[in-house]
Amino acid sequence: MTDQIWLIGFSGTGKTRLARPLAAALNWASLDLDKVIEREAGDTVAGIFASGGEGAFRVLETQAVEEAAQRSNVVVATGGGAVLAEANRSAMRRRGFIVCLEARPDTILSRLRGGSGAVSDRPLLQGHDPLSRIVAMKAERQPLYDQADFTIDTDDLTPDEITHRVLAAFRERTTVGAGGA
Ligand code: S3P
Repeated sequence: MTDQIWLIGFSGTGKTRLARPLAAALNWASLDLDKVIEREAGDTVAGIFASGGEGAFRVLETQAVEEAAQRSNVVVATGGGAVLAEANRSAMRRRGFIVCLEARPDTILSRLRGGSGAVSDRPLLQGHDPLSRIVAMKAERQPLYDQADFTIDTDDLTPDEITHRVLAAFRERTTVGAGGA
């Protein structure tokens, strides 16, 4: 049974933005893991990094992934580093269809600069040269992002087009795959 869709990918690839329309099309719930973590911690992601470091954030993130993995009929937008822990990857895989949203580093930077979530909200992208940080961190994580069931390049697509393509892939793969090993 595949009754979850997990959105993975680097910051600024549109995971948060896609979760809601995708869930609405399926009549499912949507969940944004960073928001769940902030609610449960009573602090912002930046605040958690500042007080407890990345390690503290990753512990909370793994708890949030495990909680989300218990749910049915849910689209989960993860944070860009949620794929780093093997425990998270296997929790996503148990019942989930995993979708990786891709974008070029320059697209990512301009989205983070122009959108609601600023570069300053991303503790790991601080420093004088965020583009180089994005290139390096993304390259390091790429083998993990590449484990997704379906990958979509979002640079030149509208949010509607992305929603439709992900839905089509989900329906096609989970029907064709139903009952198979
Ligand atoms: C992180 C990405 C962020 C957030 C945290 C760590 C990462 O989420 O979880 O700042 O390690 O890439 P977004 O992908 O929504 O920016």
